[in-house]
Amino acid sequence: MNSPVLTIDGPSGVGKGTVARVIAQQQGWHLLDSGAIYRAFALAVESRGISITDEKSLEEIATNLDLAFKTHADSELVSVFLDGKDVSKVLRTEETGEKASKIASIGVVRAALLKRQQDFATLPGLVADGRDMGTVVFANAPFKVYLTASADERANRRLKQLQAQGSKGIISQILVDVKARDERDSSRKHSPLKPAKDALIIDTTTLSLDEVIAQVSELVKA
Ligand code: DC
Repeated sequence: MNSPVLTIDGPSGVGKGTVARVIAQQQGWHLLDSGAIYRAFALAVESRGISITDEKSLEEIATNLDLAFKTHADSELVSVFLDGKDVSKVLRTEETGEKASKIASIGVVRAALLKRQQDFATLPGLVADGRDMGTVVFANAPFKVYLTASADERANRRLKQLQAQGSKGIISQILVDVKARDERDSSRKHSPLKPAKDALIIDTTTLSLDEVIAQVSELVKA
């Protein structure tokens, strides 16, 4: 039996991850943070000292990526293990996001990571967040959402997130990074960031998290 899938795509810093986690909890569905896979892959390539022009090695690493996710009963955090090592902290940095964005533009990498992502679609259902969940990875999903927000608002949200984690950030630099990542993720040849034709587009610039969640919940229940 096919498992229902809700795809949540959108640019960086829009809050996809938080919305995806809450809806997955509400529905009792599995969760796929596809960005974490690209981030972990970027770390794996770096630790092996492989050049990003060596497509054969990239494909091999992507196919054999030793990656595991561990959820915790007492916290919202998901721990990520690469080659058996907990990489959760380094995985979430801006620097790793930047590396992931660069390496994610390579076609053989995306092809090699495709099935790994599709395998998450098991019963009772899946919430998948990323850039190409609704357009490529789960193109037949019954529920698709595309979240967007102004770059300024996303930079502000990112700054607050960093501050909540006890880190610092400079808003002007975050804004530059957000815009650069948008540009790279949307202009690449393979699976660029864009809304699926049948996605519900929600501009979250002036919406609270609860308001966004209410709209997405409604779609899934409908
Ligand atoms: O969602 P994120 O910030 O964790 O993703 C990091 C980078 O990974 C993002 O800038 C582009 C890439 N990515 C992708 O190309 N396709 C996805 N489905 C998810 C992430």
